[in-house]
Amino acid sequence: MATSYKDLGLVNTRELFAKAVKGGYAIPAYNFNNMEQLQAIIQACVETESPVILQVSKGAREYANQTLLRYMAQGAVEYAKEISGGKGIPIVLHLDHGPDFETCKSCIDNGFSSVMIDGSHLPYEENIAETKKVVEYAHKFDVTVEGELGVLAGVEDDVKAESHTYTQPNEVEDFVKRTGVDSLAIAIGTSHGAYKFKPGENPKIRLDILAEIEKRIPGFPIVLHGSSSVPQDLVKIINEHGGKLKDAIGIGEDQLRAAAKSAVCKINIDSDGRLAMTAAIRKVFDEKPAEFDPRKYLGPARTALKELYKRKNIEVLGSAGHAYDK
Ligand code: G3H
Ligand code: 13P
Ligand code: ZN
Repeated sequence: MATSYKDLGLVNTRELFAKAVKGGYAIPAYNFNNMEQLQAIIQACVETESPVILQVSKGAREYANQTLLRYMAQGAVEYAKEISGGKGIPIVLHLDHGPDFETCKSCIDNGFSSVMIDGSHLPYEENIAETKKVVEYAHKFDVTVEGELGVLAGVEDDVKAESHTYTQPNEVEDFVKRTGVDSLAIAIGTSHGAYKFKPGENPKIRLDILAEIEKRIPGFPIVLHGSSSVPQDLVKIINEHGGKLKDAIGIGEDQLRAAAKSAVCKINIDSDGRLAMTAAIRKVFDEKPAEFDPRKYLGPARTALKELYKRKNIEVLGSAGHAYDK
């Protein structure tokens, strides 16, 4: 029998996005693959009183199992209540980069409250057809859908693209109308992973294209993927403790803050979390080589991740304090 996210205490994105667009902030969309990441995300969002989108990628489904991740998210609803004196926070369980209708359907049938159908690699008309099919199914269950137009550059395990194609503003209105999507991911120069720009390249995203897109679909929820900033202090810690990250460059936080103030209402961050955890773990391994209890390195990694996400919510996304907006 199918499981509705509504019975699990999860929410879809509709109301959260409407409030975020109106309030000039973005909802954090953080990826999780294991318990420590999930705890860090929930603790950070409870402590900053922020709504949150928990993202499950293809890599996460392969690594941790989709069913287990769904039960973990269900547990996170209770965990959030427990550590917030009973109030909880709005939590969305979202499929990140859904590759096809079947995967989206499987998530919808098994308790996800939001799905992305990533048809960005398809020819335009095929992207529309595939996205529309997912929307028609999802909306029967009040599950919200994110579509994508334009191709992000970068390589990250299972999300690969050699070069980017910016979203064409003259396509967005037609795409949104014909598919019925609830939000639209766009390509304006962000990309997945920790190597977003080459040294010497101008590390700027195209806020002018974003402005043009907003003119065509005013107030419509826009999503930014590939929005890690690759904090240089974390890269430094990693390299000082045996790592080899050369020329890792991300998106400036000032640019993301500017985007969050506009109709961008969901910002995807994964790589920065990976860097925070790696830096903390490398430091323990380097400084305490006799340590072999996983809790002694996963614990500090979890704390580092929580602190990073708290700072993002407060300083970059502006979502802090908006969990209980009316
Ligand atoms: O969009 C990419 C995300 O960072 C997830 O990547 O499939 O390696 O988990 P992943
Ligand atoms: P980053 O690799 O920049 O963190 O992007 C993550 C993402 O877009 C997940 O969908
Ligand atoms: Zn992405």
